[in-house]
Amino acid sequence: MPSVLPSGTPAPRLPGHIAIIMDGNGRWAQQRRRPRMIGHRAGARAVNRTIDFCLERGIAALTLFAFSSENWGRPQDEVDALMKLFLGALDREVDELHRRGVRVRFIGDRSRFAASIVQRMDKAEQRTAANATMTLSIAASYGGRQDIAMAARRLAEQVAAGTLRPDQVDEALLGQHVALADMPPPDLFIRTGGDTRISNFLLWQLAYTELWFTEVLWPDFDAAILQQALDDYAGRERRFGLTSAQIAAGKAAESALP
Ligand code: IPE
Ligand code: IPE
Ligand code: MG
Repeated sequence: MPSVLPSGTPAPRLPGHIAIIMDGNGRWAQQRRRPRMIGHRAGARAVNRTIDFCLERGIAALTLFAFSSENWGRPQDEVDALMKLFLGALDREVDELHRRGVRVRFIGDRSRFAASIVQRMDKAEQRTAANATMTLSIAASYGGRQDIAMAARRLAEQVAAGTLRPDQVDEALLGQHVALADMPPPDLFIRTGGDTRISNFLLWQLAYTELWFTEVLWPDFDAAILQQALDDYAGRERRFGLTSAQIAAGKAAESALP
């Protein structure tokens, strides 16, 4: 948006792609002396609020970290209950998402899920594939290192097959094989729950993403907090390694980044 407000400050900029680590469900439940699962259920409602907000605001892409490759190591009863919740959400929400023009996709290692879940994931993706209002990517059984390793494996396979030379492997090519390769990387990263770490989320894709952290626990996440993140984002200058003067002169658009 190139327009300039009367004060001379640039018009508010909206991130095209938001990625969120939805953390703090367990602590939210603990504070209420309830089982962790109650927190996960409340977290699912916060997911719906977040999708509503992003649709209202015209955000083109939303990527949510639902379950990490490391989360498989949690107590079996919590993993089982999370899978049940995930399955229920797939059954309940996909119709409505489809009706609202949301394209649903899953990133991560789906070979670790039960067949019933994989089947629903595939179906949801196929059904919503042509939707264009917003792309909702759910990271489930996802790990950033695993994502990069799998991309490297695909290139190695091509080299072994003789269809790719090692000297053709570069950033751009590897970047075509990681998750979400067909969309611009996240502009804004949000993590709730008070911890200021990436926890193996989109390691490759977050290289130049603006990071925003809040103490708010995920089940309490709402439009007001999301608006705070958007306001903060709008006031930031993204330099992509260049200088402020270069950015003002529109250099970023000419450079290879993001
Ligand atoms: C995030 O909340 C949800 C998942 C990782 C599945 P947590 O379950 O990690 O909640 P805390 O961090 O223990 O409070
Ligand atoms: C990150 O949260 C993963 C998800 C929100 C799905 P974790 O709760 O697993 O992260 P750590 O263990 O605090 O780093
Ligand atoms: Mg956590």
